[in-house]
Amino acid sequence: MIEKILKESLIELLNDGLNGNQKSFEMRIRKLSGKLNKCDPQLAEELSSLLKTKTLRSIDNHIPMPVDADTRQKLLLVEESVALHVEPIWNEKIENEINRICIEREKSDSLLKQGLIPTRSALLAGPPGVGKTLMAHYLAEKLKLPLLTLDLATVMSSYLGKTGSNIRAVLNYAKSFPCILFFDEFDAIAKKRDDDSDVGELKRLVTVLLQAIDEWPTTSLLLAATNHSELLDRAIWRRFDKVILFNLPEINQVSKFFKQHDINHSLSDWLAQKIQECSFSEIEKKLNHAKKNAVLENKLLIETLCDQFDLELKEYFSLNKESKKEWIMYLANHGLTQQDIANKLEVSRSTIVRALQNKK
Ligand SMILES: Nc1ncnc2c1ncn2[C@@H]1O[C@H](COP(=O)(O)OP(=O)(O)OP(=O)(O)O)[C@@H](O)[C@H]1O
Ligand SMILES: [Mg+2]
Repeated sequence: MIEKILKESLIELLNDGLNGNQKSFEMRIRKLSGKLNKCDPQLAEELSSLLKTKTLRSIDNHIPMPVDADTRQKLLLVEESVALHVEPIWNEKIENEINRICIEREKSDSLLKQGLIPTRSALLAGPPGVGKTLMAHYLAEKLKLPLLTLDLATVMSSYLGKTGSNIRAVLNYAKSFPCILFFDEFDAIAKKRDDDSDVGELKRLVTVLLQAIDEWPTTSLLLAATNHSELLDRAIWRRFDKVILFNLPEINQVSKFFKQHDINHSLSDWLAQKIQECSFSEIEKKLNHAKKNAVLENKLLIETLCDQFDLELKEYFSLNKESKKEWIMYLANHGLTQQDIANKLEVSRSTIVRALQNKK
């Protein structure tokens, strides 16, 4: 049995080895290891660990951090270990994609034994401020991998010929140890196509990138983010193991975001219902403004929030009778007169009196 399996694979293996076809060679060893698993688990194990030591060997040959040949500036932002300060809020689809990537990494040994390759690359596409960069950080934290970020928009601003060699240097470096390589503003390549005359050089650059995606090692993850996915070639889309589409947050996500930022439940729900087509980063900015204005202008947070999001305070109170009572109490406890409260909340003074009496 073993003999038959080995015989079947030997010629193809030799063929790939002699032709220097590394990717296919590795794939065949994995397949072979999967087939041998039943009849000779020890040999199967030895074969899979051979592939692992190959990656380890490359860590030993640590390649120096790539820099631009002229400016000597570092081409990559390296974050050795990532710790997030926010708890990201994902919709169910994205949550599932993230879990799937993590599980495939966790169980990569079992997958590789069967000749299956865990997800190595993903394209993150969607509007600005919805968590694409955040997801790269989140995955780095969860997978405990260093995060290497290359901002293509910055690198592409230089002379194209140089861009090619810079990107090659970055790829070689990132391939030499387990990490997440993150191409931010990935559409910069596509945009360059419109305004650059050196089409040949650009085509070569795209080829380098496509090849890099194909040859990406299983020990690392390659992520690319874009908010102009329509500009990217279909050939590029196809190369990625996964394309993860981000949308503007849904009502329940927005509400959760406010609650996470210490806004009370009913107000969070109401704001989320009223806010439309807003990214997390826009909401975050407005919320911060509102918080600062509340302090600087000595106003209630609910007032400054309504200002920021262009909402009517009285509408909130007309829908939330219970909250209205709470706010009246709150304002009274903060020294406002009944008339001040009536003016602020745009209700009659008798309503205020009733609310305060009921409470007692
Ligand atoms: N899903 C989310 N959950 C919680 N906060 C988020 C989420 N997405 C974005 N934010 C907040 O918005 C900020 C900006 O998000 P991020 O940088 O990930 O956006 P992006 O999608 O990469 O945008 P761009 O396309 O402009 O680069 C984050 O630092 C975070 O504070
Ligand atoms: Mg980003």
